[in-house]
Amino acid sequence: MGDTKANLTIDGTSREYSVLDGTIGPSVVDISSLYKDTGMFTFDPGFTSTASCESKITYIDGDEGTLLYRGYPIEQLADHGDFLESCYLLLYGELPTRPQKEDFVNRVTKHTMIHEQMSRFFTGFRRDAHPMAVMVGVVGALSAFYHDSTDIADPHQRMVASIRMIAKMPTIAAMAYKYHIGQPFVYPKNDLDYSANFLHMCFAVPCEEYKVNPVLARAMDRIFILHADHEQNASTSTVRLAGSSGANPFACIAAGIACLWGPAHGGANEAALNMLTEIGSVDRIPEFIARAKDKNDPFRLMGFGHRVYKNYDPRARIMQKTTHEVLAELGIKDDPLLDVAMELERIALSDEYFVSKKLYPNIDFYSGITLRALGFPPHMFTVLFALARTVGWIAQWKEMVEDPGQRIGRPRQLYTGAPKRDYVPVEQRR
Ligand code: ACO
Repeated sequence: MGDTKANLTIDGTSREYSVLDGTIGPSVVDISSLYKDTGMFTFDPGFTSTASCESKITYIDGDEGTLLYRGYPIEQLADHGDFLESCYLLLYGELPTRPQKEDFVNRVTKHTMIHEQMSRFFTGFRRDAHPMAVMVGVVGALSAFYHDSTDIADPHQRMVASIRMIAKMPTIAAMAYKYHIGQPFVYPKNDLDYSANFLHMCFAVPCEEYKVNPVLARAMDRIFILHADHEQNASTSTVRLAGSSGANPFACIAAGIACLWGPAHGGANEAALNMLTEIGSVDRIPEFIARAKDKNDPFRLMGFGHRVYKNYDPRARIMQKTTHEVLAELGIKDDPLLDVAMELERIALSDEYFVSKKLYPNIDFYSGITLRALGFPPHMFTVLFALARTVGWIAQWKEMVEDPGQRIGRPRQLYTGAPKRDYVPVEQRR
């Protein structure tokens, strides 16, 4: 804690509040005693000036365009690491040594199957259900299948639940996909690595051999690394809030998936690809730029803008590189959507409206093109995001549950409804 104090004067009475410093990033004013001191709350809808918790996991500098997992820049992890190593890092705070990594990979790999009864659960859904709807239901149902890892007071059960979530999410996501397209489920293959196994479960069919392309598996793995955590975003805050009541981790992650689904959050990659498809050709871009700038038109450029990044999203740069690698590997020389995306980005980045509002491409701008090239339909994009973000949710949930000062999250409000009034019998109401 630094020596800096913040003074708040209300009706001539001053009170002093401590300023707490992090290792990097903005300091915070500790107003936790404000209500007791003054009978007043702070008002910050959308939490633009509120730090909801203390965390050691992920750091974002939105002005610089920096993203660190446990201090390591995302670019270095994406270039040199792999997804399971990032999972270990996020969960335990350090990169694993070789034996630690082998042990962790082994533990995750041994949990990839789901209870056979769960496959019956899928068949209760309509085939045309959005796979995110299926994910919310099936992941929530995990707590009905794995009772032996729902006691959050037991560190061993917390660990088992964390490993189970990371291990089973690809299996569930692939099953949601297979169910949607009417193909048989493909069981996990434990001799494949995490991302290759996921591609296999999604794209293999029992009637012929499917060989995973290592370049595409590496691209999938990098996409998972990029999405693994992003500090206190809407879905992570949802997981923390759900978990603050003592709810089991499977239920909390299901809450996170529900929040992620929205088009302002994880649903933006699907929306961005749909938008690029709707634009269709480079000559129609000005029309859509004009619509995005029109205050009377609800249209927004999907994949542009971010609550925290007021600079190029560092993940978008890596994703753009990955897009080119995937298209080259697949021999796709001309992708009209990529042409539209690159020209749209060029125009937006030089347009006064986008420049003055610091609206840059975010990770979702290029991820749709890459995922589509990998073979996924737009309905699956947010599911893949949920799969990757599960480790971030779990790491944040674990950090919260293990904090001895943790209390239930209970925000207050500025009430602007009717003041107290008496009940009126129906025959007297007008
Ligand atoms: N297109 C056009 N204008 C935009 C866009 C956009 N994509 N994004 C923001 N603006 C404008 C707003 O109209 C607003 O203008 P104003 O100040 O004149 O009213 C200003 O920029 C600020 O926008 P807010 O909505 O207040 O910013 P906020 O931080 O609340 O929203 C958000 C951030 C939701 C990401 C927003 O930029 C957006 O809707 N983008 C498109 C959806 C998207 O790509 N979401 C993915 C986010 S990344 C992720 O979840 C992984």
